[in-house]
Amino acid sequence: MKAVAVLPGQPNSVHLRELPSPTLSDQPHPHVCRIPEGRSVLVKVLRVGVDATDREINEALYGNAPPGGDFLVIGHESFGQVVEVGDKVTEVRPGDYVSCTVRRPGGSIFDLIGRNDVTSEETYYERGINLCHGYMAEYFVDDAEYIVRVPVGLKHLGVLAEPASVCAKALEQAYLAQERLQVWEPRRAFVLGAGQIGLLATMMLRLRGLEVYTIASSPPPNLKAELAESYGATYVSTRQTPLPELTRKVGKPDLIFEATGNAELCFRAMEVLAHNGVLVWTSITGGKHEVTIDAAKINLEWVLGNKLLVSSVNGNRRHFDLGIQALAHGEMAYPGVTERILTHPVDGLDHYKEMMHLLEENKALKVFVNVS
Ligand code: BGC
Ligand code: ZN
Repeated sequence: MKAVAVLPGQPNSVHLRELPSPTLSDQPHPHVCRIPEGRSVLVKVLRVGVDATDREINEALYGNAPPGGDFLVIGHESFGQVVEVGDKVTEVRPGDYVSCTVRRPGGSIFDLIGRNDVTSEETYYERGINLCHGYMAEYFVDDAEYIVRVPVGLKHLGVLAEPASVCAKALEQAYLAQERLQVWEPRRAFVLGAGQIGLLATMMLRLRGLEVYTIASSPPPNLKAELAESYGATYVSTRQTPLPELTRKVGKPDLIFEATGNAELCFRAMEVLAHNGVLVWTSITGGKHEVTIDAAKINLEWVLGNKLLVSSVNGNRRHFDLGIQALAHGEMAYPGVTERILTHPVDGLDHYKEMMHLLEENKALKVFVNVS
């Protein structure tokens, strides 16, 4: 079968390669975990989404091949259809639409209880990112434990299951952490960034009834603004209204969801959070970026205001379920809006160069490959 891979450590090494098609008896990552007898699921890949992580892996900023090899099959946002299942699989059947989680468990207590998304080990195993091959191929096999069903009525949004899981986890973590206050009724949220994560977070916060400001650099009219407003949020361009000015106008936010991929903004967000508020960081920022901030002022305001920073990465299978539920709820509340995030289809794995080019240009809201 065809697969798209990189040679980790070598910039711009993305390439197409021929690999043996997996079968139910394969162990896809024996160096991390083994699929128990009869629990394998073989999936035909329909679509794979890509994001800045894939671009940065191709830039060799991070990412590692599974031990014993020099290449890494990329792709961590999976959507496909079950072809065959082992005799001990009851959760899915051939024909079902599915996505598959990204992390595989290490050895910490969190990994052992199914919370590999909060592993306490430094090394993390992620399909398509670190030490495990990804989904950008015609087929994959994995343990039923990591396969998540996508309802048939949501198959047009199936490729967003992984990014939705990342948002659902981050928001869940923020709300859980805010239980420290005993009473917390957030009214206003700022979402920084209007990429796929920013827009999905906008939708999820609107579903929770918050007044949401989705904040990005480009001035409207543009698609991001249109989508944010279709979810009932207010879109703000920082070129027209810088963050401090917006805060003076509308008030400080109780929750800030940071998803810009810009390290400076992670810290600028600290300057505008309300008392008792929570700032959620989800950006993954490769490379180096030094900034000057007024640390004394932030420290003073944060201590006097009991403010909290929560960071969140990845999502386990429960977060995939939560993300899929939110996508479904979003379809009911804002019919047809989320599908418009899927702006740039690439037809077939053969066109992997076009896919990487679109990512590098950084103009597309969402690039995904129609594999089959
Ligand atoms: C993925 C997450 C992953 C993170 C860190 C993100 O792009 O969506 O699943 O945990 O990168 O590698
Ligand atoms: Zn990602």
